Amino acid sequence: MDKCSMKPHVLCIPHPAQGHINPMLKLAKLLHFKGFYVTFVHTEFNYNRLAKSDGRCFLPGSTDFRYEVISDGLPPTNPRGILDLPSLSLTLPVEGLRSFRELVKRLIISSDDGAPPLSCIVSDGVMSFTIEVARESGIPEMILFTPSGCGMLGYLQFERLMENHVIPLKDESCLSNGYLDTTIDWVAPMGKIRLWDLPTFIRTTNPDDIMLNYNLESINNTSKADGVILNTFDDLEHEVLEAIRTKFPNLYTIGPLPMLHQELSSSNLSSFKSNLWKEDTRCLDWLEGREPGSVVYVNFGSLIIMTSDQLNEFAWGLANSKYHFLWVIRPDLVDGGDEAISKAYLDEITDRGLLVEWCPQERVLAHPSVGVFLTHCGWNSTLESISGGVPIICWPFFAEQQTNCLYSCTEWGVGLEIDSDAKRGKVEGIVREMMEGETGKRMKESALRWRMRGLSAVRQGGSSYTNFVRLVECLKGGVS
Ligand code: UDX
Repeated sequence: MDKCSMKPHVLCIPHPAQGHINPMLKLAKLLHFKGFYVTFVHTEFNYNRLAKSDGRCFLPGSTDFRYEVISDGLPPTNPRGILDLPSLSLTLPVEGLRSFRELVKRLIISSDDGAPPLSCIVSDGVMSFTIEVARESGIPEMILFTPSGCGMLGYLQFERLMENHVIPLKDESCLSNGYLDTTIDWVAPMGKIRLWDLPTFIRTTNPDDIMLNYNLESINNTSKADGVILNTFDDLEHEVLEAIRTKFPNLYTIGPLPMLHQELSSSNLSSFKSNLWKEDTRCLDWLEGREPGSVVYVNFGSLIIMTSDQLNEFAWGLANSKYHFLWVIRPDLVDGGDEAISKAYLDEITDRGLLVEWCPQERVLAHPSVGVFLTHCGWNSTLESISGGVPIICWPFFAEQQTNCLYSCTEWGVGLEIDSDAKRGKVEGIVREMMEGETGKRMKESALRWRMRGLSAVRQGGSSYTNFVRLVECLKGGVS
């Protein structure tokens, strides 16, 4: 028997979005480092896209870390350039599941290519329909829930909100007449929380709303799993996590995953990447030439689509602040084109602003030149910012970003929120406040404190480190 065929074999399946692939890949590499044979599953469309954006993720050489591909079920006519979440929410649990079942059937038997039989599955929280296949195959399944603990606690309220007829909303006027300021008070650690601060999938009048029902079903399926993994740390979300533990006692908080990864993994897989867009590393050299704490970093993640008016307001707000800024504008960020980024604008910001399409964000946030991060509050971005000790300006857009924003601003003291209708004057003002005001100074100090606490969590003896060791033992136990 060769060394590979004796290893425990874990299959990791993320949702096919960047903010889900990244933490799952980190976890997969950590498990590989701890002696697992890893099968990492992409959907077909992303697999091809990764090949284009980062050839290195397909470097040969690793015999015990492999990629497999399943169908996302979308017809070839679907443009897919921008992630079509509602369509995927319909096709993944049907065609994706069928394709996944075939894959698992193949992997549970010993193969002649040296792969050991599959022994456990780690599935994304919004791919938790996979639990059906795990059960049929008698294989344990853990769920990696990629949002924050506070976000997860928000999703856990959906059922009760429906039972109490709070959602779906009675009519469209509830979206604009202040109804979303209504508070609920039954989620003890959250105190009185506004509907506005809960994951935005509740903002619908349609009882059959695809995203509302998909998220509700996902969280319900999660309770059938053998355990739940969260990319957060106990110190950061203590009370929220206690509340989640009452429903999911087998909870493993192992974040911040980028920090744990850095602490533990000297894996030869560091060149395996997961960027769906081509990374532009010029910005690192550009940052090198700037003073410490002098740069505003702007990035709205992988899913947001903004209007050209919104882009224009941010563009001029940043330019008028007179600070240096690094701004990631994905090619698919703006609905209706990014003509706001005109020649006149580029002339205005010469030497002060650098625009790129995709950057190595973790490295950017770890760079001493970055003073503040203007972000959509995606959970990975929020945690990466805390890990870099960088305070944030919050422009939450959808999903649980609103909840992350609330906690960043009120509980952790690392962020200031800007209006959803962010006008250039407000953008300029908040940038100045964060870069040179007293509030900004306080937030910087908080961010640095949370960074230190995050580091303590991932070091030997820390909560995330210890939970990861427990998780590994538990996943290995599934083998015997
Ligand atoms: C979001 C959030 O994950 C989530 O909280 C919500 O439920 C739905 O969508 P996304 O917009 O991708 O996803 O944001 P985020 O969670 O911040 O993840 C983006 C990831 O891509 C981060 O790991 C970030 O480092 C990486 N990234 C982003 C880059 O490496 N370079 C970039 O230029 C932009």
